[in-house]
Amino acid sequence: MAPLLEVNDLHVEFKSRRRTVYAVNGVNFSIGEGETVGMVGETGCGKSATIRAIIGLLRPPGRIASGSIRLDGEDLTGLDARRLRRIRGAGIGFVPQNPFGALNPVLRIERQFRNVVRAHRRAGRGRIREDALEMLNGVGIADPERILGGYAHELSGGMAQRVVIALAMVLDPPLVVADEPTTGLDLTIQRQILDLIGKMATTRGSSMLLVTHDIGVVAQYCSRLLVMYAGRVVEAGPTNIVLRKPAHPYTEALLSAVPRRGRRLIAAAGAVPTLLSRPVGCYYYDRCRYRGDSRCATETPDLKEVSPGHWAAVFYRKPTMSAQEQAPEKATTQAQAQEDRDGDDAPGTD
Ligand SMILES: Nc1ncnc2c1ncn2[C@@H]1O[C@H](COP(=O)(O)OP(=O)(O)OP(=O)(O)O)[C@@H](O)[C@H]1O
Ligand SMILES: [Mg+2]
Repeated sequence: MAPLLEVNDLHVEFKSRRRTVYAVNGVNFSIGEGETVGMVGETGCGKSATIRAIIGLLRPPGRIASGSIRLDGEDLTGLDARRLRRIRGAGIGFVPQNPFGALNPVLRIERQFRNVVRAHRRAGRGRIREDALEMLNGVGIADPERILGGYAHELSGGMAQRVVIALAMVLDPPLVVADEPTTGLDLTIQRQILDLIGKMATTRGSSMLLVTHDIGVVAQYCSRLLVMYAGRVVEAGPTNIVLRKPAHPYTEALLSAVPRRGRRLIAAAGAVPTLLSRPVGCYYYDRCRYRGDSRCATETPDLKEVSPGHWAAVFYRKPTMSAQEQAPEKATTQAQAQEDRDGDDAPGTD
């Protein structure tokens, strides 16, 4: 069966007269029906650019330079604005970073539910009101009647985000996409909102793509994890496997930068390259502790399956843990790391 969402060789550029930023450089992934997928990576690695391309909200100077985005087999990249609006809402529910940007300040919340529903199907006021009350209940709003009669500016950030989640899900879209939906909220509220999105997707059986820095939420609600670096997916696989046995050195660095008790990913050492040109060779070359021969400097590795369902964009496998444990002082030198790799995974075998 074809996946629900299929992103194929997606390239996104921000092109102005002065410069071009190559923000997304050949992203590939798919999401199956009912699957919940997390997306992580440092700031500037192209998560939002990818998300906005998927939901058709990339604004100039951003544009999809090439690639395809298929929802249920239909390529969204060539669609006009009207058709895209229809898909957003009924096909894809979107929860943005800032809920107030998604709510209309001059319309009562009830009217906004009506607008969303009626953009996609004919429905009477009473029916829409019932659905809205049920949705608001579902997102944990205790007095949904009062909220329906009010305006966005009367809501706290956390409440506004709950309303936006209810609006994004009222049409029961098969896919829910959320881009760091808790930025700017109190820490405890952040957790509640992320829990809520995870739970809503799970209980309603929708697929989910969630961009977050919260590794606890990823572990709890995302069956699969995508790790992005410099506009590419460098690792993808079952969440528990990627978290326990990362196959890409970047994922390893990212995870080791998580404070022992903390849940949030922070930046690993170094920086995502400024993508004013596409790097030659592996995009992670400069920061890689396992980089090897000239191949790493001259070719860009594509994702390859390192174990069933687990993919990593590497030419070589990093030294195994046991090799490191057996000879820690040696394995830390690059030459030894290279030797270990050569022994375990010959170059040029993908
Ligand atoms: N409007 C724009 N004009 C020019 N460059 C842009 C624009 N928007 C984003 N970019 C660039 O595109 C790259 C990817 O940005 P993007 O917002 O997708 O990163 P991100 O992974 O979502 O980061 P964050 O975690 O901070 O949200 C960055 O280098 C960024 O500077
Ligand atoms: Mg972003």
